[in-house]
This record gives sequence, C-alpha cells and structure tokens, in this order.
Amino acid sequence: MTVLPPAKPANFSRVTMTELMIPSYANFGGKIHGGILLSLMDKVAYAAASKHSGAYCVTVSVDTVDFLQPVEVGELVSLKASVNHVGNSSMIIGIKVISENVKTGVVKHTNTCYFTMVAKGEDDKPTPVPPLLLETRTDVRRFVEAIKRKSYKKEYDAMLHKIKQTWDQEAISSLLEGQRCEVAPELKK
Ligand SMILES: CC(C)(COP(=O)(O)OP(=O)(O)OC[C@H]1O[C@@H](n2cnc3c(N)ncnc32)[C@H](O)[C@@H]1OP(=O)(O)O)[C@@H](O)C(=O)NCCC(=O)NCCS
Repeated sequence: MTVLPPAKPANFSRVTMTELMIPSYANFGGKIHGGILLSLMDKVAYAAASKHSGAYCVTVSVDTVDFLQPVEVGELVSLKASVNHVGNSSMIIGIKVISENVKTGVVKHTNTCYFTMVAKGEDDKPTPVPPLLLETRTDVRRFVEAIKRKSYKKEYDAMLHKIKQTWDQEAISSLLEGQRCEVAPELKK
C-alpha cells in the first residue's frame, strides 16, 4: 500500500531570490541578457519545487516568458516563486520578476511566467509530490488558473500538431498573402 504524503501549504515553499545585475550579465546593447534572467528563473523554480517535494527536480516546461521591460546593469532583480499547482509528480511554479533601480527606487515588473518541474526519485523516475494545501483565496485562484492553462496548452499542442500534419496549398497561400516573404516558384504549385 502506498502511503500518500500529507499536504503542504503553498506558503511553505514560497521563495524570493534577489540578485544584483553586474556588468558581466549585460548583452551587446548594455542591457541584461535574457538568458541570465532565464537561468535565475530556473534556479528559483527549482528552489520552490524542491522545497515542496523534498526531492531532486527537473525543469520540464517553461510557459509564457515575455520580457516586458529591459533590465539595466546595477538594478536589483527579485524573483518571487510559489508552487501554484501540483499533479502527481509535477508542480507548476509561478514566478514574478521585478527589477529595482536602487538610486531612484523605481520598481519595474519585468515578467511573470510558469515553470513546470517534475520531482524525481532515487531511481531517476518521476515520484509523487505532496498535495498542495490552499489556505488563501489567492492560493485557490492560482491553482485554478493553472488547471485552465494546462487545459488550454493541451488544446494548443493538439492544434499545433494538426497544423504540422497538413499541407493545404490553398490555406497556405492565403496565410502568406501580405507577409514579408517570397516563396520559391516551384513551391507554389
Ligand atoms: C520530465 C520527465 C521526467 C517526464 O518523464 P516521463 O517518463 O514522460 O514521465 P511521465 O509521463 O510520468 O510524466 C511525469 C510528469 O511530467 C508531466 N509532463 C511531461 N511532459 C510535460 C510537458 N511537456 N509539459 C508539462 N508537463 C509535462 C506529466 O504530465 C507528468 O505529470 P504528473 O505526474 O503530475 O501527472 C522526462 O521527460 C525528463 O526527464 N525530461 C528531462 C528533464 C530535464 O532534464 N530538464 C532539464 C533541462 S535539460
């Protein structure tokens, strides 16, 4: 008989990580490289997921990473992460990234995204994680939003799969009309 682990409050695994944006993080344009922010998001997602599960975790999927505003060298970036949803072995971590100019005190919301992490056991296979104890309305809202996003993603993936499977010359020609591309003549037949 498998003994299910007791539920853990969402609050238990909430993590905030703050890092100073140093010059070596900048890209050729002098702004912070998107990859640096992605790496920080991955770290904070890992921290929250491993705290909730008490296990080694891997990143499976990253959802809606949009960089809304550039981050400058010298700013303090804070990443707030919490476990929003749990499945059997998977956890959806919501991450809010803000960047603060310490001189002016101006705080920017640079992005919010969702990482799916999976807990792995000693055998390197997905292992069950504790259920999530929802103690506030915000916890419930986040859990429900994650269910909806999961369901939309399933539909979206199925749609993409269908698009890749079909070559409808008429539909393709109509979609390409007015686009900034030129199609080789032999492909128009
Ligand atoms: C993630 C991984 C463990 C899934 O293994 P699997 O044998 O397919 O296992 P399962 O089908 O049981 O899936 C495990 C969980 O992952 C979830 N999952 C799998 N693919 C997913 C995807 N693309 N998006 C979201 N969740 C996904 C499943 O829904 C399942 O969740 P649940 O247990 O809560 O129901 C495996 O694909 C893996 O190890 N990937 C590499 C991860 C990694 O190394 N990441 C670092 C970046 S290089």
